[in-house]
Amino acid sequence: MSTPSPITELSNVSIRPMQEADLVEARRIFRVAFGTFIGVPDPETFAADREYILTRWRSHPGAALVAEVNGTVAGSNFATNWGSFGFFGPLTVRPDLWNQHIAQKLLGPTLDLFEKWGVREAGLYTFAQSPKHIGLYQKFGFWPRFLTSLMSKDVSRREASPVKYSTLKAGDSVHALRACRELTGSIYDGLDVTWEIRLVQEQNLGETVLLWGGDSLEAFAVCHGGEGSEAGKNNCYIKFAAVRPGPGVGDRFDHLLDGCEALAAERSWQRLVAGVNLNRSQAYRQMLQRGFRTDSQGVAMHKPDSPAYNRPDVFVLDDWR
Ligand SMILES: CC(C)(COP(=O)(O)OP(=O)(O)OC[C@H]1O[C@@H](n2cnc3c(N)ncnc32)[C@H](O)[C@@H]1OP(=O)(O)O)[C@@H](O)C(=O)NCCC(=O)NCCS
Repeated sequence: MSTPSPITELSNVSIRPMQEADLVEARRIFRVAFGTFIGVPDPETFAADREYILTRWRSHPGAALVAEVNGTVAGSNFATNWGSFGFFGPLTVRPDLWNQHIAQKLLGPTLDLFEKWGVREAGLYTFAQSPKHIGLYQKFGFWPRFLTSLMSKDVSRREASPVKYSTLKAGDSVHALRACRELTGSIYDGLDVTWEIRLVQEQNLGETVLLWGGDSLEAFAVCHGGEGSEAGKNNCYIKFAAVRPGPGVGDRFDHLLDGCEALAAERSWQRLVAGVNLNRSQAYRQMLQRGFRTDSQGVAMHKPDSPAYNRPDVFVLDDWR
């Protein structure tokens, strides 16, 4: 029986913040790495209608890291700061350099960013079927817990007219961001996704819908739409949504999804896409009842091995991609 060849380690790998000049190659590596792993016929065209790299780098350059080998980009990773919670990805390495510890070299400084930001718990979304992925992240203290479903449904016209963040006057938008922060904090102490709301607004990637009950924010959803965003062509992708907990939460969730569908119909986006962790079991069941079906699923890994806000009573939509 032959012994497996030893994994070689490159000695000339350096990790540094991403620069504008790295973007073209980082985007190419992102597509070719995922396309190769998934096995699509032409890896360079993987997710060609979706954008993750340029948009995230623009909005938070210090949270984008590049691995460089012999002066060329070999891979990259992105950290996301949601207040007391953080996650990372997309993490990609050029396929001809796989299994030479480049991902691990990127992960150390990524976790340093979480430390610097004061993140209490961290997570990621990965391929549940891949021993390599699970083993790699376990080395850094992340543990697999529940699956996360990436779901979608056709958009139907809905009688709903939620407030749109983009239409707010300056003072009102400050108030809305504060209310969003307060709402997410009532679900998980310190959770703050206002960075996502501003990113969508500043780069014109979609819209944030807000559901008010008098002065109180009942729910909100940050939606990407169309090509050049994380949604892709003809899609409305709910990047993050949260509903105020307590009696009536299910009704509020329905109203919020009505609002997202109304927005999608108005913009001629044909499919509504959203991710939900399966330990948010009430929200997941309600999505099934509403006609959402799972397109693919991965596993959420947590550091430490505790639920964070992936709990049965939580009505949040996100997938940590
Ligand atoms: C996933 C990816 C980023 C890993 O990059 P990489 O540079 O090849 O990874 P590394 O060499 O740093 O780490 C490999 C580690 O995987 C783990 N691993 C591999 N096979 C394993 C197995 N069968 N069981 C357990 N762990 C395993 C080991 O910990 C190994 O490290 P070791 O050699 O020190 O033991 C890269 O393969 C990639 O770009 N894939 C396509 C895109 C993608 O899937 N991105 C991640 C999405 S979450």
